[in-house]
Amino acid sequence: MIGLIGAMAVEMEKLMADVEDRTETTVGMDRYVTGRLYGQEAVLAICGPGKVNAALCAGGMILRYHPQWILNLGVAGAGDRDVGICDMVVATGAVQHDFDTSHLGDPVGLVSKINLVEFPCDAALRERLVRAAEQIPGIHVHCGVIATGDQFIDREADRERIHRLFGAKAVEMEGAAIAHACYTYGVPCGILRSISDGANEQSPMDFGTFAALAADHTQRVVELVLKGLTA
Ligand code: ADE
Repeated sequence: MIGLIGAMAVEMEKLMADVEDRTETTVGMDRYVTGRLYGQEAVLAICGPGKVNAALCAGGMILRYHPQWILNLGVAGAGDRDVGICDMVVATGAVQHDFDTSHLGDPVGLVSKINLVEFPCDAALRERLVRAAEQIPGIHVHCGVIATGDQFIDREADRERIHRLFGAKAVEMEGAAIAHACYTYGVPCGILRSISDGANEQSPMDFGTFAALAADHTQRVVELVLKGLTA
């Protein structure tokens, strides 16, 4: 079984609708949908925004369903000026940009207890995601660090700071929390994000305009990966 997690309905609704022989199980505040998706046994969930929602959902999914890997998919703001709206970013790793004990001498982003700044993403899954994403016409695909925090980034100065600290290609609100849960339990993890906005002052408007289109692209990539159509 494989696991798929998105934060919002718009990021998951097409995949949810395509699940066959579905069952639904609610655990705490999370609803897990299981069944066959494009020929694969899958468990899907909409975790809600933010790191705690995402970590609880991923942890619950892992303990209950033991997925062989988990993919977090959805939209994100651009982390780098060379990343455009509707480009896609596949994570090499993920950081929690708002985890900050630097006043105690730690590097910004160091997650205490785990003692890591960057949570790894699985290289083989990344390759499959990149090959599939490259099949979506007119889309640029980037690989790099994805930065996660409990804020919607809508100021160029904030985007710039996150990029300077972590070299982030995309900013969003769940990926590193899901990678953290996966790291904790030894489950391979992937993060695929399609860019809905520039993480700047235009973001609230651009997000409204492009989120649905960007989300559709990530759902098409997942379909290609699960159908094994990644040339
Ligand atoms: N998801 C989509 N756009 C985002 C942004 N600008 N900041 C955080 N999460 C996002």
